[in-house]
Amino acid sequence: MPTPETPIEGVAARQAALRILDAVLRRGQTMDNAAQAARGLPPADAALASAIAGETLRRLPDLDALIDGATRQILPDDSKARTVLRLALAQKIGLGTPDHALVATALPLVDGGPRRLVHGVLGTLLRKGLPTMEAPRLPELVEERWGAAWGEQVVEAARRAIAHRPPLDLTFASDEACEAYTQGVSLAPRHRRIDHHGSITDLPGFDAGQWWIQDLASSLPARLIPGSATTVLDACAAPGGKTMQLAATGHEVTALDRSESRLARLSDNLKRTNLKAKTVVADALDWTPGNPFDAVLLDAPCSATGTFRRHPEVLYRARPAIVAQSAELQAQLLARAADWVKPGGSLVFAVCSLEPEEGEQRIEQFLTDRPDYRIEPASELADGVTPHPRGWLRVLPGMLESQGGLDGFFTAHLVRTG
Ligand SMILES: C[S@@+](CC[C@H](N)C(=O)[O-])C[C@H]1O[C@@H](n2cnc3c(N)ncnc32)[C@H](O)[C@@H]1O
Repeated sequence: MPTPETPIEGVAARQAALRILDAVLRRGQTMDNAAQAARGLPPADAALASAIAGETLRRLPDLDALIDGATRQILPDDSKARTVLRLALAQKIGLGTPDHALVATALPLVDGGPRRLVHGVLGTLLRKGLPTMEAPRLPELVEERWGAAWGEQVVEAARRAIAHRPPLDLTFASDEACEAYTQGVSLAPRHRRIDHHGSITDLPGFDAGQWWIQDLASSLPARLIPGSATTVLDACAAPGGKTMQLAATGHEVTALDRSESRLARLSDNLKRTNLKAKTVVADALDWTPGNPFDAVLLDAPCSATGTFRRHPEVLYRARPAIVAQSAELQAQLLARAADWVKPGGSLVFAVCSLEPEEGEQRIEQFLTDRPDYRIEPASELADGVTPHPRGWLRVLPGMLESQGGLDGFFTAHLVRTG
Protein backbone atom coordinates (compact mmCIF):
# COMPACT_ATOMS: atom_id res chain seq x y z
CA MET A 1 0.00 0.00 0.00
CA PRO A 2 1.72 3.27 -1.04
CA THR A 3 2.11 5.91 1.66
CA PRO A 4 2.27 9.66 0.91
CA GLU A 5 6.08 9.25 0.72
CA THR A 6 6.15 6.40 -1.81
CA PRO A 7 5.27 7.60 -5.30
CA ILE A 8 2.55 5.55 -6.99
CA GLU A 9 3.89 3.79 -10.04
CA GLY A 10 2.89 5.52 -13.24
CA VAL A 11 1.92 8.87 -11.70
CA ALA A 12 5.02 10.65 -13.02
CA ALA A 13 4.07 9.69 -16.60
CA ARG A 14 0.53 11.06 -16.07
CA GLN A 15 1.93 14.28 -14.58
CA ALA A 16 4.08 14.67 -17.68
CA ALA A 17 1.06 13.93 -19.93
CA LEU A 18 -0.79 16.72 -18.11
CA ARG A 19 2.04 19.16 -18.84
CA ILE A 20 2.25 18.06 -22.48
CA LEU A 21 -1.47 18.59 -23.00
CA ASP A 22 -1.28 22.00 -21.35
CA ALA A 23 1.65 23.04 -23.57
CA VAL A 24 -0.23 21.98 -26.70
CA LEU A 25 -3.69 23.33 -25.89
CA ARG A 26 -2.86 26.47 -23.95
CA ARG A 27 0.51 27.46 -25.40
CA GLY A 28 0.01 26.17 -28.94
CA GLN A 29 3.18 24.04 -28.94
CA THR A 30 3.80 21.05 -31.22
CA MET A 31 3.74 17.63 -29.56
CA ASP A 32 7.45 17.23 -30.30
CA ASN A 33 8.28 20.43 -28.38
CA ALA A 34 5.70 19.80 -25.69
CA ALA A 35 7.17 16.33 -25.11
CA GLN A 36 10.14 18.12 -23.51
CA ALA A 37 7.85 18.20 -20.46
CA ALA A 38 8.68 14.50 -20.02
CA ARG A 39 12.43 15.17 -20.04
CA GLY A 40 14.24 13.36 -17.25
CA LEU A 41 11.72 10.49 -17.05
CA PRO A 42 12.82 6.95 -17.93
CA PRO A 43 12.23 6.44 -21.71
CA ALA A 44 9.27 4.09 -21.16
CA ASP A 45 7.50 6.70 -18.96
CA ALA A 46 8.26 9.51 -21.41
CA ALA A 47 6.83 7.41 -24.26
CA LEU A 48 3.75 6.63 -22.15
CA ALA A 49 3.24 10.34 -21.36
CA SER A 50 3.31 11.22 -25.08
CA ALA A 51 1.03 8.31 -25.94
CA ILE A 52 -1.55 9.37 -23.32
CA ALA A 53 -1.49 13.01 -24.48
CA GLY A 54 -1.77 11.88 -28.12
CA GLU A 55 -4.71 9.55 -27.43
CA THR A 56 -6.43 12.41 -25.58
CA LEU A 57 -6.01 14.81 -28.50
CA ARG A 58 -7.44 12.19 -30.91
CA ARG A 59 -10.83 12.37 -29.22
CA LEU A 60 -10.98 15.58 -27.19
CA PRO A 61 -14.49 16.83 -28.18
CA ASP A 62 -16.06 13.42 -27.47
CA LEU A 63 -14.18 13.04 -24.16
CA ASP A 64 -15.48 16.45 -23.10
CA ALA A 65 -19.03 15.48 -24.01
CA LEU A 66 -18.71 12.34 -21.87
CA ILE A 67 -17.36 14.36 -18.93
CA ASP A 68 -20.08 17.02 -19.24
CA GLY A 69 -22.74 14.31 -19.36
CA ALA A 70 -21.53 12.83 -16.07
CA THR A 71 -21.54 15.95 -13.84
CA ARG A 72 -23.73 18.99 -13.28
CA GLN A 73 -20.65 21.06 -12.44
CA ILE A 74 -19.29 23.30 -15.15
CA LEU A 75 -15.60 22.50 -15.58
CA PRO A 76 -13.64 25.23 -17.37
CA ASP A 77 -11.69 24.01 -20.43
CA ASP A 78 -8.34 24.54 -18.75
CA SER A 79 -9.30 23.26 -15.29
CA LYS A 80 -7.08 20.55 -13.87
CA ALA A 81 -10.06 18.34 -13.07
CA ARG A 82 -11.19 18.34 -16.72
CA THR A 83 -7.67 17.65 -17.98
CA VAL A 84 -7.14 14.78 -15.54
CA LEU A 85 -10.50 13.27 -16.55
CA ARG A 86 -9.68 13.62 -20.24
CA LEU A 87 -6.36 11.84 -19.74
CA ALA A 88 -7.87 9.03 -17.69
CA LEU A 89 -10.70 8.35 -20.14
CA ALA A 90 -8.35 8.49 -23.13
CA GLN A 91 -6.14 5.86 -21.48
CA LYS A 92 -9.07 3.52 -21.13
CA ILE A 93 -10.37 4.04 -24.68
CA GLY A 94 -7.09 4.45 -26.57
CA LEU A 95 -4.62 2.35 -24.60
CA GLY A 96 -6.84 -0.16 -22.79
CA THR A 97 -5.48 0.80 -19.34
CA PRO A 98 -7.28 -1.20 -16.58
CA ASP A 99 -9.78 0.79 -14.46
CA HIS A 100 -7.87 0.41 -11.17
CA ALA A 101 -4.64 1.71 -12.73
CA LEU A 102 -6.24 4.75 -14.31
CA VAL A 103 -8.10 5.70 -11.13
CA ALA A 104 -4.99 5.14 -8.97
CA THR A 105 -2.87 7.34 -11.24
CA ALA A 106 -5.50 10.06 -11.79
CA LEU A 107 -6.43 10.84 -8.19
CA PRO A 108 -2.93 11.91 -7.00
CA LEU A 109 -2.96 14.60 -9.72
CA VAL A 110 -5.75 16.56 -7.99
CA ASP A 111 -6.53 17.60 -4.41
CA GLY A 112 -9.58 18.43 -2.32
CA GLY A 113 -12.92 19.09 -4.06
CA PRO A 114 -11.62 18.41 -7.58
CA ARG A 115 -10.31 15.04 -6.37
CA ARG A 116 -13.76 14.03 -5.16
CA LEU A 117 -15.22 15.25 -8.44
CA VAL A 118 -12.72 13.31 -10.56
CA HIS A 119 -13.32 10.19 -8.47
CA GLY A 120 -17.09 10.57 -8.81
CA VAL A 121 -17.10 11.23 -12.57
CA LEU A 122 -14.66 8.42 -13.31
CA GLY A 123 -16.65 6.01 -11.13
CA THR A 124 -19.92 6.89 -12.90
CA LEU A 125 -18.46 6.60 -16.40
CA LEU A 126 -16.49 3.42 -15.78
CA ARG A 127 -19.52 1.70 -14.23
CA LYS A 128 -21.66 2.64 -17.25
CA GLY A 129 -18.97 1.50 -19.71
CA LEU A 130 -17.20 3.80 -22.18
CA PRO A 131 -17.96 4.04 -25.91
CA THR A 132 -15.24 2.77 -28.25
CA MET A 133 -15.11 6.12 -30.13
CA GLU A 134 -14.24 4.60 -33.51
CA ALA A 135 -15.03 7.89 -35.28
CA PRO A 136 -14.48 10.69 -32.75
CA ARG A 137 -15.46 14.23 -33.63
CA LEU A 138 -12.79 16.69 -34.74
CA PRO A 139 -12.63 20.25 -33.34
CA GLU A 140 -15.76 22.11 -34.46
CA LEU A 141 -13.85 24.73 -36.46
CA VAL A 142 -12.03 22.05 -38.43
CA GLU A 143 -15.20 20.08 -39.15
CA GLU A 144 -16.86 23.24 -40.46
CA ARG A 145 -13.86 24.15 -42.62
CA TRP A 146 -13.35 20.68 -44.09
CA GLY A 147 -17.09 20.13 -44.47
CA ALA A 148 -17.30 23.30 -46.58
CA ALA A 149 -14.17 22.46 -48.59
CA TRP A 150 -14.51 18.69 -49.11
CA GLY A 151 -17.97 17.60 -47.94
CA GLU A 152 -19.36 15.57 -45.06
CA GLN A 153 -18.08 12.22 -46.35
CA VAL A 154 -14.50 13.45 -46.06
CA VAL A 155 -15.15 14.76 -42.54
CA GLU A 156 -16.54 11.33 -41.59
CA ALA A 157 -13.48 9.62 -43.10
CA ALA A 158 -11.22 12.00 -41.15
CA ARG A 159 -13.08 11.07 -37.94
CA ARG A 160 -12.45 7.39 -38.60
CA ALA A 161 -8.82 8.12 -39.48
CA ILE A 162 -8.02 10.06 -36.30
CA ALA A 163 -9.16 7.20 -34.05
CA HIS A 164 -6.03 5.13 -34.72
CA ARG A 165 -2.34 5.56 -35.25
CA PRO A 166 -1.68 4.93 -38.96
CA PRO A 167 0.54 2.19 -40.41
CA LEU A 168 4.16 2.91 -41.22
CA ASP A 169 5.27 3.61 -44.79
CA LEU A 170 8.84 2.90 -45.86
CA THR A 171 10.43 4.42 -48.97
CA PHE A 172 13.34 2.39 -50.35
CA ALA A 173 16.55 3.68 -51.87
CA SER A 174 16.53 1.02 -54.60
CA ASP A 175 14.15 -1.31 -56.44
CA GLU A 176 16.27 -4.30 -55.39
CA ALA A 177 16.06 -3.53 -51.65
CA CYS A 178 12.29 -2.99 -51.94
CA GLU A 179 11.72 -6.24 -53.84
CA ALA A 180 13.84 -8.19 -51.36
CA TYR A 181 11.86 -6.83 -48.35
CA THR A 182 9.49 -9.47 -47.09
CA GLN A 183 7.30 -7.42 -44.72
CA GLY A 184 4.12 -5.48 -45.56
CA VAL A 185 2.50 -4.54 -48.87
CA SER A 186 3.74 -2.33 -51.68
CA LEU A 187 1.35 0.37 -52.96
CA ALA A 188 3.83 2.19 -55.22
CA PRO A 189 7.33 1.63 -56.61
CA ARG A 190 9.99 1.55 -53.85
CA HIS A 191 7.27 1.53 -51.18
CA ARG A 192 6.19 -0.90 -48.46
CA ARG A 193 3.53 -0.39 -45.80
CA ILE A 194 3.95 -2.23 -42.52
CA ASP A 195 1.95 -2.39 -39.30
CA HIS A 196 4.51 -1.34 -36.71
CA HIS A 197 4.34 1.05 -33.78
CA GLY A 198 7.58 0.42 -31.88
CA SER A 199 11.13 1.63 -32.38
CA ILE A 200 12.10 1.77 -36.05
CA THR A 201 15.80 1.17 -35.48
CA ASP A 202 15.06 -2.53 -34.78
CA LEU A 203 13.43 -3.06 -38.18
CA PRO A 204 15.40 -5.00 -40.79
CA GLY A 205 17.30 -2.78 -43.22
CA PHE A 206 17.48 0.27 -40.91
CA ASP A 207 21.20 -0.02 -40.13
CA ALA A 208 21.98 -0.77 -43.77
CA GLY A 209 20.14 2.46 -44.69
CA GLN A 210 17.91 0.68 -47.20
CA TRP A 211 14.82 2.78 -46.41
CA TRP A 212 13.43 5.73 -44.51
CA ILE A 213 10.05 6.52 -42.98
CA GLN A 214 7.80 8.61 -45.22
CA ASP A 215 4.03 8.62 -45.53
CA LEU A 216 3.11 7.37 -49.01
CA ALA A 217 1.32 10.69 -49.73
CA SER A 218 4.46 12.59 -48.83
CA SER A 219 6.49 10.52 -51.31
CA LEU A 220 4.34 11.68 -54.26
CA PRO A 221 5.94 15.11 -55.03
CA ALA A 222 9.43 13.72 -55.67
CA ARG A 223 7.84 11.11 -57.96
CA LEU A 224 6.60 14.02 -60.13
CA ILE A 225 10.14 15.29 -60.88
CA PRO A 226 10.99 14.14 -64.42
CA GLY A 227 13.75 11.53 -64.67
CA SER A 228 15.36 13.71 -67.36
CA ALA A 229 16.10 16.54 -64.85
CA THR A 230 19.80 16.47 -63.95
CA THR A 231 20.07 19.33 -61.45
CA VAL A 232 17.31 19.50 -58.83
CA LEU A 233 16.87 21.98 -55.99
CA ASP A 234 14.95 20.74 -52.94
CA ALA A 235 14.07 24.21 -51.66
CA CYS A 236 12.66 23.36 -48.20
CA ALA A 237 14.47 20.12 -47.74
CA ALA A 238 14.88 19.10 -44.11
CA PRO A 239 14.70 16.48 -42.64
CA GLY A 240 15.23 15.12 -46.12
CA GLY A 241 12.65 12.47 -47.09
CA LYS A 242 12.28 13.98 -50.55
CA THR A 243 16.01 14.80 -50.90
CA MET A 244 16.75 11.11 -50.34
CA GLN A 245 14.16 10.05 -52.93
CA LEU A 246 15.66 12.46 -55.46
CA ALA A 247 19.25 11.43 -54.71
CA ALA A 248 18.28 7.75 -54.88
CA THR A 249 16.84 8.24 -58.39
CA GLY A 250 20.13 9.68 -59.63
CA HIS A 251 19.48 13.45 -59.65
CA GLU A 252 22.19 15.95 -58.66
CA VAL A 253 20.45 17.39 -55.63
CA THR A 254 20.95 20.68 -53.79
CA ALA A 255 19.12 20.53 -50.46
CA LEU A 256 18.35 23.97 -49.02
CA ASP A 257 16.75 24.75 -45.67
CA ARG A 258 16.86 27.75 -43.38
CA SER A 259 17.11 25.61 -40.24
CA GLU A 260 20.65 24.53 -39.46
CA SER A 261 19.56 21.92 -36.92
CA ARG A 262 17.02 20.37 -39.29
CA LEU A 263 19.61 20.35 -42.06
CA ALA A 264 21.98 18.49 -39.68
CA ARG A 265 19.27 15.80 -39.40
CA LEU A 266 19.10 15.71 -43.20
CA SER A 267 22.88 15.15 -43.36
CA ASP A 268 22.58 12.30 -40.81
CA ASN A 269 19.82 10.75 -42.91
CA LEU A 270 21.95 10.98 -46.06
CA LYS A 271 24.86 9.38 -44.23
CA ARG A 272 22.75 6.47 -42.97
CA THR A 273 21.31 5.82 -46.44
CA ASN A 274 24.65 6.40 -48.16
CA LEU A 275 23.12 9.00 -50.50
CA LYS A 276 24.63 12.29 -51.65
CA ALA A 277 23.32 15.85 -51.88
CA LYS A 278 24.84 19.30 -51.60
CA THR A 279 23.43 21.09 -48.54
CA VAL A 280 22.85 24.85 -48.18
CA VAL A 281 21.70 26.63 -45.01
CA ALA A 282 19.83 29.70 -46.25
CA ASP A 283 16.48 31.45 -46.21
CA ALA A 284 14.83 30.84 -49.57
CA LEU A 285 13.28 34.31 -49.33
CA ASP A 286 16.68 35.96 -49.75
CA TRP A 287 18.90 33.29 -51.34
CA THR A 288 19.62 33.25 -55.07
CA PRO A 289 21.26 30.34 -56.91
CA GLY A 290 24.26 30.84 -59.23
CA ASN A 291 22.50 28.94 -62.04
CA PRO A 292 18.90 27.90 -62.66
CA PHE A 293 17.93 24.24 -62.11
CA ASP A 294 16.31 21.65 -64.37
CA ALA A 295 13.75 21.17 -61.61
CA VAL A 296 12.84 22.72 -58.26
CA LEU A 297 10.84 20.93 -55.57
CA LEU A 298 9.13 23.31 -53.13
CA ASP A 299 7.74 21.32 -50.19
CA ALA A 300 6.60 24.46 -48.46
CA PRO A 301 6.07 25.07 -44.75
CA CYS A 302 2.34 24.83 -44.05
CA SER A 303 -0.33 24.30 -41.40
CA ALA A 304 0.40 20.53 -41.69
CA THR A 305 -3.26 19.70 -41.09
CA GLY A 306 -2.89 16.69 -43.42
CA THR A 307 -0.71 14.98 -40.81
CA PHE A 308 -3.51 14.90 -38.19
CA ARG A 309 -3.42 11.09 -37.89
CA ARG A 310 0.13 11.16 -36.50
CA HIS A 311 -0.03 14.69 -35.04
CA PRO A 312 -3.59 15.28 -33.82
CA GLU A 313 -2.44 18.53 -32.18
CA VAL A 314 -2.25 20.22 -35.62
CA LEU A 315 -6.04 20.47 -35.55
CA TYR A 316 -5.84 22.69 -32.47
CA ARG A 317 -2.88 24.76 -33.67
CA ALA A 318 -3.96 25.50 -37.25
CA ARG A 319 -6.36 28.36 -36.62
CA PRO A 320 -7.51 30.43 -39.62
CA ALA A 321 -4.83 33.10 -38.97
CA ILE A 322 -2.07 30.44 -39.12
CA VAL A 323 -3.48 29.04 -42.36
CA ALA A 324 -3.60 32.55 -43.87
CA GLN A 325 -0.01 33.29 -42.76
CA SER A 326 1.24 30.01 -44.22
CA ALA A 327 -0.57 30.67 -47.50
CA GLU A 328 1.10 34.09 -47.75
CA LEU A 329 4.56 32.59 -47.11
CA GLN A 330 3.90 29.90 -49.73
CA ALA A 331 2.99 32.58 -52.29
CA GLN A 332 6.30 34.36 -51.60
CA LEU A 333 8.33 31.15 -51.78
CA LEU A 334 6.59 30.10 -55.02
CA ALA A 335 7.30 33.50 -56.60
CA ARG A 336 11.02 33.12 -55.84
CA ALA A 337 11.34 29.44 -56.74
CA ALA A 338 9.65 30.10 -60.09
CA ASP A 339 12.63 32.23 -61.15
CA TRP A 340 15.14 29.43 -60.39
CA VAL A 341 13.77 27.00 -63.00
CA LYS A 342 15.24 26.78 -66.54
CA PRO A 343 12.80 27.33 -69.43
CA GLY A 344 11.20 23.95 -70.10
CA GLY A 345 12.04 22.86 -66.53
CA SER A 346 9.74 21.73 -63.71
CA LEU A 347 8.54 23.29 -60.48
CA VAL A 348 6.82 20.85 -58.15
CA PHE A 349 4.85 22.44 -55.31
CA ALA A 350 3.72 20.43 -52.30
CA VAL A 351 2.07 20.91 -48.90
CA CYS A 352 0.94 18.38 -46.26
CA SER A 353 -2.18 20.46 -45.72
CA LEU A 354 -5.90 19.86 -46.11
CA GLU A 355 -6.63 23.58 -46.55
CA PRO A 356 -7.48 24.67 -50.14
CA GLU A 357 -5.90 28.10 -49.39
CA GLU A 358 -2.54 26.32 -49.16
CA GLY A 359 -3.07 24.05 -52.17
CA GLU A 360 -5.58 24.58 -54.98
CA GLN A 361 -5.97 28.33 -54.39
CA ARG A 362 -2.18 28.84 -54.24
CA ILE A 363 -1.69 27.17 -57.60
CA GLU A 364 -4.63 28.88 -59.33
CA GLN A 365 -3.24 32.24 -58.15
CA PHE A 366 0.28 31.30 -59.24
CA LEU A 367 -0.92 30.39 -62.74
CA THR A 368 -2.63 33.80 -62.99
CA ASP A 369 0.53 35.60 -61.79
CA ARG A 370 2.92 33.54 -63.93
CA PRO A 371 1.65 33.02 -67.49
CA ASP A 372 5.04 31.47 -68.26
CA TYR A 373 3.95 28.35 -66.31
CA ARG A 374 1.39 25.62 -67.05
CA ILE A 375 0.26 22.54 -65.13
CA GLU A 376 1.63 19.22 -66.29
CA PRO A 377 -1.13 16.68 -65.54
CA ALA A 378 0.00 14.11 -62.97
CA SER A 379 -0.53 10.39 -63.49
CA GLU A 380 -1.67 7.85 -60.89
CA LEU A 381 1.57 7.54 -58.93
CA ALA A 382 0.30 5.25 -56.18
CA ASP A 383 -2.54 2.71 -56.19
CA GLY A 384 -5.86 4.55 -55.88
CA VAL A 385 -4.48 8.13 -55.87
CA THR A 386 -6.19 9.47 -58.99
CA PRO A 387 -5.27 12.95 -60.27
CA HIS A 388 -7.77 15.82 -60.08
CA PRO A 389 -9.14 16.93 -63.48
CA ARG A 390 -7.03 20.14 -63.12
CA GLY A 391 -3.93 17.95 -63.18
CA TRP A 392 -2.78 18.12 -59.57
CA LEU A 393 -2.91 15.42 -56.89
CA ARG A 394 -5.17 16.10 -53.93
CA VAL A 395 -5.04 13.41 -51.25
CA LEU A 396 -8.01 13.41 -48.88
CA PRO A 397 -9.08 11.37 -45.84
CA GLY A 398 -10.94 8.28 -47.06
CA MET A 399 -8.51 7.53 -49.91
CA LEU A 400 -6.99 4.03 -49.61
CA GLU A 401 -8.91 3.71 -46.33
CA SER A 402 -9.17 -0.09 -46.42
CA GLN A 403 -5.37 -0.27 -46.65
CA GLY A 404 -4.65 2.14 -43.80
CA GLY A 405 -5.26 5.53 -45.48
CA LEU A 406 -2.90 8.38 -46.31
CA ASP A 407 -1.91 11.75 -44.90
CA GLY A 408 -3.81 14.68 -46.43
CA PHE A 409 -1.64 16.21 -49.14
CA PHE A 410 -1.54 18.46 -52.19
CA THR A 411 1.03 18.48 -54.97
CA ALA A 412 1.17 20.02 -58.44
CA HIS A 413 3.70 19.73 -61.27
CA LEU A 414 4.24 23.08 -63.04
CA VAL A 415 6.30 23.44 -66.20
CA ARG A 416 8.02 26.67 -67.24
CA THR A 417 7.08 27.30 -70.82
CA GLY A 418 9.06 30.45 -71.55
C1 LIG B 1 7.44 20.65 -44.82
S1 LIG B 1 9.02 20.84 -44.16
C2 LIG B 1 10.02 20.03 -45.37
C3 LIG B 1 10.01 18.53 -45.30
C4 LIG B 1 11.03 17.91 -46.26
N1 LIG B 1 10.84 18.36 -47.63
C5 LIG B 1 11.02 16.40 -46.24
O1 LIG B 1 10.45 15.76 -47.14
O2 LIG B 1 11.62 15.80 -45.32
C6 LIG B 1 9.36 22.52 -44.50
C7 LIG B 1 10.80 22.94 -44.28
O3 LIG B 1 10.89 24.29 -44.77
C8 LIG B 1 11.88 24.96 -44.03
N2 LIG B 1 11.66 26.41 -44.26
C9 LIG B 1 10.65 27.16 -43.80
N3 LIG B 1 10.77 28.43 -44.27
C10 LIG B 1 11.88 28.44 -45.05
C11 LIG B 1 12.54 29.46 -45.80
N4 LIG B 1 12.08 30.70 -45.82
N5 LIG B 1 13.66 29.12 -46.47
C12 LIG B 1 14.14 27.86 -46.42
N6 LIG B 1 13.57 26.87 -45.71
C13 LIG B 1 12.45 27.16 -45.05
C14 LIG B 1 11.66 24.49 -42.61
O4 LIG B 1 12.83 24.63 -41.84
C15 LIG B 1 11.27 23.01 -42.84
O5 LIG B 1 12.40 22.18 -42.70
